[in-house]
Amino acid sequence: MEEIHASNLVDAMCITSDKTATSFVKETPKITRYSLADSADGMNSDMDYHIEIINKNDKSRVLKFLRRFFFRDEPLNQSIQLIPEGEDSTCMELEDYCSYSSFENNLSLMAVTTNGAIIGVLLNGKTDPPPDEEPEYIKSCKNPKFKKILKLLHHIDKRVNVDGQFQDLNVLEIKIISVDINWRGKGVAKALIGKAIEIAKEQGFHYARADCSSSFSGKLCARIGFDAIYKLDYNDYVDEEGKPIFSPASPHTAVVSYIKKL
Ligand SMILES: CC(C)(COP(=O)(O)OP(=O)(O)OC[C@H]1O[C@@H](n2cnc3c(N)ncnc32)[C@H](O)[C@@H]1OP(=O)(O)O)[C@@H](O)C(=O)NCCC(=O)NCCS
Repeated sequence: MEEIHASNLVDAMCITSDKTATSFVKETPKITRYSLADSADGMNSDMDYHIEIINKNDKSRVLKFLRRFFFRDEPLNQSIQLIPEGEDSTCMELEDYCSYSSFENNLSLMAVTTNGAIIGVLLNGKTDPPPDEEPEYIKSCKNPKFKKILKLLHHIDKRVNVDGQFQDLNVLEIKIISVDINWRGKGVAKALIGKAIEIAKEQGFHYARADCSSSFSGKLCARIGFDAIYKLDYNDYVDEEGKPIFSPASPHTAVVSYIKKL
């Protein structure tokens, strides 16, 4: 396949089938088919994928995908070696976090090739304003590494909601986004978020929010009209000795919370 810049690929996507008549809350998922139009007829099956709503039957293959990619290469997970390099293990607490309501809510999506391989996953949920106190599930988290991540997420959540401006509003939370390393830079994440926004609008959500630990997901959100509402530099989030708790690899320097009015 010839090399094309990611943004051109996104522009070149052609939707070949859109069963828009199907409602999302029903059993049959709405499927949007994408083809990276790099061949004369735009039907290079290796590069075709569609987006499906995830349901509970997809749980094990979605988790398998996330174990392979997100658990290892998301900047926070990577910086604390949540899954030690070379180890074929998992983090049960992160599996629980991913699973919490994400597979039954008709809000989470996956990108799947014509061969049936998952190439991207977007787990979404509905946010509730955070309690001031650290919630019990964080206090009782038995994995010290994952506990650090939960604490950071709670910290951000409190700062974002500090003025109570999202109280009583329906906010879609983009919890997890992960694309197969061989498919990155081709607009898969952009397509997943775009579809999630469409669904969230249909379901009456007021806002979509993403806390981006990666500068790539942050850049993407900014490009598709999200506004940055809170930024925490990794260097400013320190332990009792003043040392940064997370030091992700370059170019990831901060977690940025993005919000989009729907
Ligand atoms: C973040 C992630 C989901 C992006 O997926 P993707 O399908 O490659 O994203 P897109 O192709 O839609 O591109 C998103 C933007 O990031 C840029 N980008 C993606 N990967 C990049 C890379 N390695 N280097 C530089 N820019 C990159 C793209 O060029 C694009 O920006 P543009 O619109 O200005 O061209 C993917 O990199 C990933 O799975 N990372 C590991 C997990 C992770 O960090 N998840 C996010 C946590 S919040």
